[in-house]
Amino acid sequence: MLIPANQSSQDKPVQKRITAPDIRARKGTAPIVMLTSYHAHTARILDQHCDVILVGDSLGMVMHGLETTIPVTLDMMILQGHAVMRGSKRALVVVDLPFGTYETSKEQAFATASRVLKETGCGAVKLEGGRYMAETVRFLAERGVPVMSHVGMTPQAVNTMGGFKAQGRDPAEWAPIAADAKAVAEAGAFAVVLEAIAEPLAAQISREIPIPAIGIGASPACDGQVLVLEDMLGLSPWTPKFVKRYTSLGPAIETAVGSYAAEVRSRRFPGPEHVYTVRKTATEP
Ligand code: KIV
Repeated sequence: MLIPANQSSQDKPVQKRITAPDIRARKGTAPIVMLTSYHAHTARILDQHCDVILVGDSLGMVMHGLETTIPVTLDMMILQGHAVMRGSKRALVVVDLPFGTYETSKEQAFATASRVLKETGCGAVKLEGGRYMAETVRFLAERGVPVMSHVGMTPQAVNTMGGFKAQGRDPAEWAPIAADAKAVAEAGAFAVVLEAIAEPLAAQISREIPIPAIGIGASPACDGQVLVLEDMLGLSPWTPKFVKRYTSLGPAIETAVGSYAAEVRSRRFPGPEHVYTVRKTATEP
């Protein structure tokens, strides 16, 4: 039986997810709100406020304490991608392709991306790289894989970049970065992340390309912004210059855990309201 897009078989309205073409169509309209999430509980909260939820490979550093994103595996991305899909109903969920799973050939990229789409149910993938990945972006987009690109400071290239360094701070470096953004836009990416690039260059790229530019350490002139959730919540021990901490969850968690430890040690927790009494049975007097 065919069910209309906005109905279930019980005739309950179904929440329609934002799609990659919806985000593509937002160019030049309201700013796009994007944050990372790696698990169901945070995805549920983000879903009420974000247009796009990114299951970033930053999960390797944030969840697993790795120094870079290089060791992140496809299985790690798929597991967390699935969790974020279960926690959200409305936002477009984009899952990062991790290092080593898409760069060899466009066929390798398609095999990886199709696994991610099939096994998580997400709506798009993100991959790093500009001109040298344009052919791959086109190959995927033509075969039903919506691609968000990522240029500027690309963390998977940390070893060739010599660290997590802002790009384009010397105008002599601008042309190749702008060419990267244009190449992926022409190849069919529906949006592009601009990470850690000089503000005037980010503003110029946002003006010049026909797809949404999502900034992180880029420019307020971008078509949208993204941050790593744990960074903006003040949970990460260190954050880059471009992060604004909207709260300080780290100290709040420390205080709560300290109170819990003290109450367990003094037997004040659990209290009578936290334990189960024995049920009265019919045979009791
Ligand atoms: O992995 C990630 O979280 C990202 C964002 C920083 C854009 O790619």
